[in-house]
Amino acid sequence: MSKKLLLKDAHIEGIRYFDVYRKQGGYQAAEKALKMTPEEILEEVKTSGLRGRGGAGFPTGMKWSFLAKPEGIPRHLVVNADESEPGTFKDRYLMEHIPHILIEGIIIASYCLGSNASYIYIRGEYSWIPDILEAAIEEARNAGFLGKNILGTGFDLEIYVQRGAGAYVCGEETALLESLEGKRGNPRLKPPFPAVKGLWERPTVVNNVESIAAVVPIINMTGAEYAKIGVGRSTGTKLISACGNINKPGVYEIDMTITVEEFIYSDEYCGGIPNGKRLKACIPGGSSVPILPANLLLKTIKGEPRYMNYESLSDGGFATGTMMGSGGFIVLDEDQSVVEHTMTLSRFYNHESCGQCTPCREGTGWLYRILKKIVNGEGEMKDIDLLWDIQRKIEGNTICPLGDAAAWPVAAAIRHFRDEFEYYVKTPELAKVKPFGLAHYADPIPVPAE
Ligand SMILES: Cc1cc2nc3c(=O)[nH]c(=O)nc-3n(C[C@H](O)[C@H](O)[C@H](O)COP(=O)(O)O)c2cc1C
Repeated sequence: MSKKLLLKDAHIEGIRYFDVYRKQGGYQAAEKALKMTPEEILEEVKTSGLRGRGGAGFPTGMKWSFLAKPEGIPRHLVVNADESEPGTFKDRYLMEHIPHILIEGIIIASYCLGSNASYIYIRGEYSWIPDILEAAIEEARNAGFLGKNILGTGFDLEIYVQRGAGAYVCGEETALLESLEGKRGNPRLKPPFPAVKGLWERPTVVNNVESIAAVVPIINMTGAEYAKIGVGRSTGTKLISACGNINKPGVYEIDMTITVEEFIYSDEYCGGIPNGKRLKACIPGGSSVPILPANLLLKTIKGEPRYMNYESLSDGGFATGTMMGSGGFIVLDEDQSVVEHTMTLSRFYNHESCGQCTPCREGTGWLYRILKKIVNGEGEMKDIDLLWDIQRKIEGNTICPLGDAAAWPVAAAIRHFRDEFEYYVKTPELAKVKPFGLAHYADPIPVPAE
């Protein structure tokens, strides 16, 4: 049984409401934290080893310690609830079912960072969740955990919920800040980083929903105890949203010591693949991270089991590894076409490019058009090399990593499933009806040359 910290009370009826949450020990961490100094809280978060759960895995304590503290200028905490990466829906689950764990985490983090006005920026499509959050905020205020002079400590805090308008790029932290300021959500050039000049040019910390919620168990159990869960630099628990060809799609909390195989096949998690089909590939961290074929997914290139943690998933770099990302776990069985799947993702990234940077604006559309041509049976061999060439020219050449997010799926698909692209070009009539890439199940794949 995996240890549960964030979802431990998810099954309790009415946990969405303050009284029920409080009865389960809710807001004890806030009470404890408000008796500590901000420096002591920061130390606990650093000791916990918590890494940002939004995708990049940057250490949260370190991020908080970078926050500039110029005299007389307000600071802000902004919670990133944009969650628009295809395959990722763990923050939605948390906010919808246990909103108070997020509110409690915001209180602790805001007190630590010195933010008297904190924000939750939530994706527009989650249209029903702001009401849930606002009701929870109201309940917390009525109980004395928000507003002026919280619990008589002299600390004031207001939390504002801001709805986005449905742009994926607004999940990128600086685009999010632009949008929060009422402007078009175009990513900013960095530096300056938000820790120095963020919301309204004030020092700002942007953190993912799950990162902030994780601060609650960290304070409750201490950072040192939290760091004992997991392995290496993958401490604590991680929420995984699992979907695709699995028997039990849903949101799972794992302790990052389990193997990918166990996660896919055990009844505690995904419950295996429907209809006895074989596993073909998986994208373990949201649609932008590299797809891995089954053999590389279940084992590393050294023949060791692949574990559900930051280090093991990325073992071998992009040649043989992938990323933990946001924990959006997408499973493909033997009947799925990687080529069509890659085309669908390319259409998404093309649609969501803000258009500011030429390589992303032009390149994402170009990728999509070529992929569509191949899927439609009109591809040529040289198109596969052209796809490779275009994605390389996007990666690393844009203001924000949306360009990388568009390039990586294409690169990984060609790297590991080139034979399938060639199959589409050579035998388009068969590609439409036959399962693909059966060769990927058994034999180890040699490390591809970069
Ligand atoms: C195109 C794009 C979309 C992103 N979407 C999200 C998102 O929806 N939620 C999120 O937490 N981080 C997202 N990120 C990452 C954020 O920029 C930022 O790194 C994150 O919110 C930091 O929080 P963390 O340190 O707690 O992970 C996105 C990044 C990019 C480039």
